Amino acid sequence: MQNFSNSIAPFDLTIRNGRISNADGTFIADIGVRDGVIVEIAQNLSPGKEDVDATGKWVLPGGIDSHTHIEQLSGMGVMCADDFYSGTVSAAFGGTTTIISFAAQHREDRIPDVIADYSRRAREKAVIDYGFHLILANPDDQALRHELPAVIESGITSLKVYMTYDKLKLDDYQLLDVLAVAGEHGAMVMLHAENHDMIRWVARRLLERGHKSPKFHAVSHDPLAESEATHRAIALARLIDVPVLIVHVAGTETVDIIRKARQLGAPVYAESCPQYLFLEAKDSDLSGLEGAKYCCSPPPGGKASQEAVWAGFKDGTLGVYSSDHAPYRFDESGKIPKGDATTFKEMANGVPGIELRLPLLFSEGVMKGRISIEEFVALTATNHARMYGLAPRKGAIQVGADADIVVWDTARRTVVSAELLHDAVGYTPYEGREIQGWPVEVYSRGRCVVKNNELRVERGSGRFIARSRPDPVVNRQAPTEDRKKAFGDFVGLKSAALSK
Ligand code: URP
Ligand code: ZN
Ligand code: ZN
Repeated sequence: MQNFSNSIAPFDLTIRNGRISNADGTFIADIGVRDGVIVEIAQNLSPGKEDVDATGKWVLPGGIDSHTHIEQLSGMGVMCADDFYSGTVSAAFGGTTTIISFAAQHREDRIPDVIADYSRRAREKAVIDYGFHLILANPDDQALRHELPAVIESGITSLKVYMTYDKLKLDDYQLLDVLAVAGEHGAMVMLHAENHDMIRWVARRLLERGHKSPKFHAVSHDPLAESEATHRAIALARLIDVPVLIVHVAGTETVDIIRKARQLGAPVYAESCPQYLFLEAKDSDLSGLEGAKYCCSPPPGGKASQEAVWAGFKDGTLGVYSSDHAPYRFDESGKIPKGDATTFKEMANGVPGIELRLPLLFSEGVMKGRISIEEFVALTATNHARMYGLAPRKGAIQVGADADIVVWDTARRTVVSAELLHDAVGYTPYEGREIQGWPVEVYSRGRCVVKNNELRVERGSGRFIARSRPDPVVNRQAPTEDRKKAFGDFVGLKSAALSK
């Protein structure tokens, strides 16, 4: 039990008698909060100005969702349905108190303009705290030498790069350039790993044969496209000893490749998402365009890949569980990203999931005994904080941390329907599922955000969090001797070539 309180002023908030779980253990205690920060965790604290009785409830760190597409223009020029208001409200109702969303560069954009525009959008609307990753689509000299280092210095200490999509794809040479700069300046590189040519080759043959419907999206993204690109991405990371995080891992072989690489000591981390635990490729086999509601990249597989993803979460191969919330509407005339597509190639890729990410894992994972509550906290909050430079401020209930706290009612049963959710998408791929356990009270920096199923905060009250350099990048191991012999000079030359 920790006591950090050296003042007799009353607490602003106390949450009493809850069953508190962190990634490293569970205990029953009271939490005292002042000025948005946890200042005491002990028994029998005196009541705060706001006093919450959490007897019989579970009290967990607020979720961190480190993969959300909010108010983002896709590579195809389609704006997401969720802006920073609806996106963060939806996150909060699902027990998430911090999101990291993507400030996306399109090839013609300059990075400072992208960040300025995205910052303004978020500042005006977000109701919970947020950070940004950069999506880097054009790693030209100006970006690598000046803009990317400045972005990292400003607290945007991670970036995503793509190995597929015509308008985003970087080649291996460019990826190495990006990795070298990220390693030098201390940023985490997130990789969308799919083999572009495998996908487009299969897709072309499918379309030539008249196979246009959404279910062929999954056929065109063979699991080999993911596993090949993942293997290649890891090789690039090993070549210059710079960490990478493979996002939205879907396939059995990909999980195995990452596991083996980690056993070798490779600097590789990985994420998976609800759609790879709870959806299957065959869900997209529906009449008309309905199947588009289930399409994302990489696509979900089947029962075997779901088991592989569960196993990856259990043994630490997959360290973070994020939503990859990609909220594309189905039915908005004019710019219909999903329902208006004439072939599976025109559909916007991605599924919504920001609000159900935690309830789904809680219900299917914790309530059904697949993972412990401590593993749940690690996968949904603590590991994100460590991986993306938010620790120790976020990701744990501890003295000195922001009071981002969620009270869970483990008995509450909910049948999912799109009407219950707070996003602006209008459908959910999890319609009709029964969930046990729900985040009933949500606090962000000590402010009550959600209670009695009502939003209690104003738009624009969330804050930008300038993140530290991620621990796995800053404290990465020195290259092994054999790699130093082979590539040590190369690493030095590469940095020298990129520095002014
Ligand atoms: O299909 C997906 N995952 N869409 C969202 C964009 C991305 O690549 O993460
Ligand atoms: Zn991606
Ligand atoms: Zn994504």
